[in-house]
Amino acid sequence: MKNGLGQAKKRTDYHADIRHLLVQVNNHSASASPPPQAERLSFRDIDLVTRQKAVKESLVQQEMISKLPPNIACEFVRGFLQPNERSHEMLQLFFSLEGTSIITSNIINHKSSSHKALDPLYNKLPIRLVDQYFYSSPAGDAIPDRLKAVIGNLPAWIREAGKGKKKIDVVVPGSGPARDIINILSQNSDLRQRVKAYCIDNEPSAIELGMYLAKNAGVADNIQYIEEDFMKANLANMDLALLVGIICPLSNSISAKVINKVKSFCRDGGLIVFSAALQKMLFHDPVTCFVMDFIDWKLHYKSQQDLRLILKNTKLIEIGSFLDPKYQFHQIIIGRTR
Ligand SMILES: C[S@@+](CC[C@H](N)C(=O)[O-])C[C@H]1O[C@@H](n2cnc3c(N)ncnc32)[C@H](O)[C@@H]1O
Repeated sequence: MKNGLGQAKKRTDYHADIRHLLVQVNNHSASASPPPQAERLSFRDIDLVTRQKAVKESLVQQEMISKLPPNIACEFVRGFLQPNERSHEMLQLFFSLEGTSIITSNIINHKSSSHKALDPLYNKLPIRLVDQYFYSSPAGDAIPDRLKAVIGNLPAWIREAGKGKKKIDVVVPGSGPARDIINILSQNSDLRQRVKAYCIDNEPSAIELGMYLAKNAGVADNIQYIEEDFMKANLANMDLALLVGIICPLSNSISAKVINKVKSFCRDGGLIVFSAALQKMLFHDPVTCFVMDFIDWKLHYKSQQDLRLILKNTKLIEIGSFLDPKYQFHQIIIGRTR
């Protein structure tokens, strides 16, 4: 038995166990409708029958269950339907191995909100055992879709923020390599003439990659990369702040704290654009949300009520919003400072 992951039982026994898990009814399962004010919803709040249905879906069967060694596949199904410490530990160990998935191993062995979790999803190069699952899963596929939506919608809001001004200052806290800004600048020559972007990230690898991508796209002169904790940064008079993938794992109160800090970088009347992962993601793709949970990439899936509360606690006036068009798992809100 290596790493506690060995296969003592016969392959057919595990398949029988999986079949059994998929038909049994567990009276201890959570209720169908989750508590409306729950601090953080997770896959555990989805009723058992819905979870059984989700794990039988062809994508999960073909790209996850049938690719995992039978004992791990069995723990995967068990951990999803009957969450327990042993399954959690076994799965976390198996998904930390580089050969299992570049996404999960990057997160478990690095940090949960790393740009290294998203980069493979943007590029979709299937290299490891179950990477294709993440690229095809709704929650995984929604990430490049969100990027596309930001690239398509943001230029108009940048122009709005810079109305009447010759130069437009944009700050991007937690920018990662800043693929959004790089694409926007390379596709919009008017903005290339006017925008200076300050991209702040505390991961050196994000800064390094960003500088390389910006140079290749011919927009390096427009972007200043800053390696720093943005909560400690000192900027002022920015016209627009862009926060994508930053408040998704944060509670409402911490989200407001982060946005309030970012507000301090902006001029009066400046725009703050922030994205949030919606509860719809959890209800439509509970299997991927389960994986994210056991690898400790825990999102705080937000409701419209959460978003209203965040806007109220940051005293922002909502002037627009858009969604990732394919799945509508992410809402991107444009707020104006008073
Ligand atoms: C999930 S990634 C999102 C990257 C990018 N905004 C995107 O949409 O692709 C979150 C990024 O925020 C960075 N980050 C998180 N907290 C930070 C902090 N306090 N200061 C600076 N960077 C931070 C992480 O290093 C990571 O690159």
